Amino acid sequence: MVLLGKLAIVTGAGSGIGRATCRLLARDGAKVIAADRNLRAAEQTAKDIGNDHVLPLEVNVASLESVSKAVNYSITQFKQPPSIVVNSAGITRDGYLLKLTEQDYDDVYAVNLKGTFLMTQQFARAMIEHHIRNGSVVNMSSIVARLSNPGQANYAATKAGVVSLTEIAAKEFGKFGIRVNAILPGFIDTPMVEVVPEKVKQDVLRRCPMGRLGRPEEIAEVIAFLASEKSSYVNGAAIEVTGGLN
Ligand SMILES: NC(=O)c1ccc[n+]([C@@H]2O[C@H](COP(=O)([O-])OP(=O)(O)OC[C@H]3O[C@@H](n4cnc5c(N)ncnc54)[C@H](O)[C@@H]3O)[C@@H](O)[C@H]2O)c1
Ligand SMILES: *[C@@H]1O[C@H](CO)[C@@H](O)[C@H](O)[C@H]1NC(C)=O
Ligand SMILES: *[C@@H]1O[C@H](CO)[C@@H](O)[C@H](O)[C@H]1NC(C)=O
Ligand SMILES: *[C@@H]1O[C@H](CO)[C@@H](O)[C@H](O)[C@H]1NC(C)=O
Repeated sequence: MVLLGKLAIVTGAGSGIGRATCRLLARDGAKVIAADRNLRAAEQTAKDIGNDHVLPLEVNVASLESVSKAVNYSITQFKQPPSIVVNSAGITRDGYLLKLTEQDYDDVYAVNLKGTFLMTQQFARAMIEHHIRNGSVVNMSSIVARLSNPGQANYAATKAGVVSLTEIAAKEFGKFGIRVNAILPGFIDTPMVEVVPEKVKQDVLRRCPMGRLGRPEEIAEVIAFLASEKSSYVNGAAIEVTGGLN
């Protein structure tokens, strides 16, 4: 129960890695706000976990208004903001550069990069105002930021941006006792990967030393570690969890 007494907010909590993260943070004793644009999915996450430590909340991370409301909700509901923020909301809209539409570029940017910025800025500000020490922010990047896969220019650029923003946030927030780290998952078996063409998946499996996709829980375990004080000196890190794929 290394997270007993802690409050966490997890975005993208309605699916995949975010859902697994809610489960493991609750297992470790935290109360968890399960935030997702898809409220039904967040409610399903809470129902699956089946205790009253997980509260679903509708949040669109791409909207300052919505993120600010989520901060206010947590303060009204729990008298303090979360000390753990996990940014797992993310989308892909893959396409080769010459065919990539402005909409697909903007949508991926709004959720993956601007969304992570808004979440971090708003929640870190609330933590600082409420004198929360030992805060931990985990941003979700991707190994794709380093693989530079053709067809993923928009996605890869946002995920590289997440690493850069994380490193800067770690420097700016260290003095407030807030640690900021990023995780770079490899190919994880979630709905996001279901749309990847079979040929690409087989190629990834061949290049991955473990020879298999990762499970969402295998990412969530690393997030739970970064959320806890077991990682009290890990700050500004970008941690690959890829089964060795790089
Ligand atoms: N699955 C992988 O292989 C993989 C690899 C590397 C990185 N990642 C990253 O990990 C994170 C989670 O991925 P996943 O595989 O669990 O994805 P997923 O598609 O299973 O889940 C993403 C969740 O985010 C929610 N969401 C989307 N836009 C949102 C918004 N604007 N506001 C709030 N919620 C929103 C969706 O409703 C969904 O529930 C993403 O940031 C993704 O880029 C995933
Ligand atoms: C949240 O609360 C702050 C401070 O009370 C207020 O300034 C802000 O407008 C609120 N945000 C929303 C979206 O209601
Ligand atoms: C938080 O950090 C401080 C030092 O920064 C430490 O003394 C304290 O034990 C930590 N843990 C908690 C739960 O406050
Ligand atoms: C990641 O985390 C930090 C720290 O809270 C935040 O300031 C930064 O904007 C976040 N977002 C991205 C895209 O890295």
